[in-house]
Amino acid sequence: MVIAERLHTTPFRTRTLRAPAPMVLCLKAWESRTLPGLLNVKSYFTIKLINVLFYFMKFLVTGGAGYIGSHMVKYLQDKNLEVDVIDNFSTGNRWALRNCKIYEIDLLNNQALCDILSSNDYEAVFHFAASSIVNDSLINAQEYMQNNVTASKNLLNGLIKNNIQKIIFSSTAAVFGSIKSIKVNEKHPKNPINPYGKTKLIFEEILSEKVNEFNLSAVILRYFNAAGADHSAIIGEYHDPETHLIPSIFNSLIDSKDILKIYGNNHNTRDGTCIRDYIHVNDLVNAHYLAYIKLKNNKGCFDYNLGNGNGFSVLEIIRACELITKKKVNYKLVGKRAGEPEHLVADSSKAISDLNWKIVHTEINEIIKSAWKWHTRLYNEIINT
Ligand SMILES: NC(=O)c1ccc[n+]([C@@H]2O[C@H](COP(=O)([O-])OP(=O)(O)OC[C@H]3O[C@@H](n4cnc5c(N)ncnc54)[C@H](O)[C@@H]3O)[C@@H](O)[C@H]2O)c1
Repeated sequence: MVIAERLHTTPFRTRTLRAPAPMVLCLKAWESRTLPGLLNVKSYFTIKLINVLFYFMKFLVTGGAGYIGSHMVKYLQDKNLEVDVIDNFSTGNRWALRNCKIYEIDLLNNQALCDILSSNDYEAVFHFAASSIVNDSLINAQEYMQNNVTASKNLLNGLIKNNIQKIIFSSTAAVFGSIKSIKVNEKHPKNPINPYGKTKLIFEEILSEKVNEFNLSAVILRYFNAAGADHSAIIGEYHDPETHLIPSIFNSLIDSKDILKIYGNNHNTRDGTCIRDYIHVNDLVNAHYLAYIKLKNNKGCFDYNLGNGNGFSVLEIIRACELITKKKVNYKLVGKRAGEPEHLVADSSKAISDLNWKIVHTEINEIIKSAWKWHTRLYNEIINT
């Protein structure tokens, strides 16, 4: 199939036209591990047909089986674009993916990665794959270096070698460390206070160096707290163990033995609990697509902070969840966690003006409602079946 693909590939990277090759389509469909039902097969072929009849563009999503990556995959597919996924399923879920080719490899496996990159003509790469639990990074700092820096460097070298020119990188507000302003913009000093933030900052720096050296363009997107789920409730957030606040609250509502922990109520905030900025996952992935459009028209390395611009304390989120679910949250207070800033809210005005980004989900209740709809489905249809 790879030979057939190569035969149909022109030397032009963008808007590559491939001749319709029914055999290639059949082989690809057969190879795909995500064709469980007739409907999916039908939609798979519809996407294929649109792609081959018009211009063909294929995107790569690393970490596409994860929470945000799977929403990116769906977003691109909803635009009738073809997507391949690389994932090692360390925290990702197979049920989160449909109608795409899945390469189950680790980005640390350089040979397998090179084979994929050299046999596909990717228009751009969305790089989500990473280890991303702050507390875990304090215990396993070396693993975070490997997975977030070495693996990302492998990917970057592969892109350069294969002349794949656009990368959109998932970074984090954790690169800023202790916050010195009410809202954090891109110029805020970057002094991460945990290994997770450090590894993300190291790769940001590597990326901007390589952009100057090679024919490569990049957008660094620093998310604050991703939250919510796609409105279809087909996909959403699921980690085991869960460390993010909103799904942890829901877990405690579903399982009364799973008591929610609040890490400190003596922070310097309005009610003593940590304040965070929650941005809906679909607003986030929309920003990624706009970042790709930016790279279609501009060369260089660009960075943007992505958040809702509103801060909510842990207690405020608990109250909002109680209101939406009409259930009482059972929680206990425990000590502060190391490596966690107490107040983290984004200034996203640069993304709003430069990328023409519009935040659709401005209300926290709306974000929580979408997460709750997904969470109930997750437990009823995925976990308990
Ligand atoms: N969720 C958030 O609130 C948040 C906030 C800031 C930044 N981020 C960043 O966004 C990205 C995605 O976060 P998420 O919450 O979706 O995480 P996630 O754990 O749900 O997804 C990560 C995915 O990457 C895969 N993966 C990890 N290491 C890999 C490797 N070496 N090779 C191949 N696949 C690998 C995992 O299996 C998983 O599917 C991460 O880079 C994270 O640092 C997330």
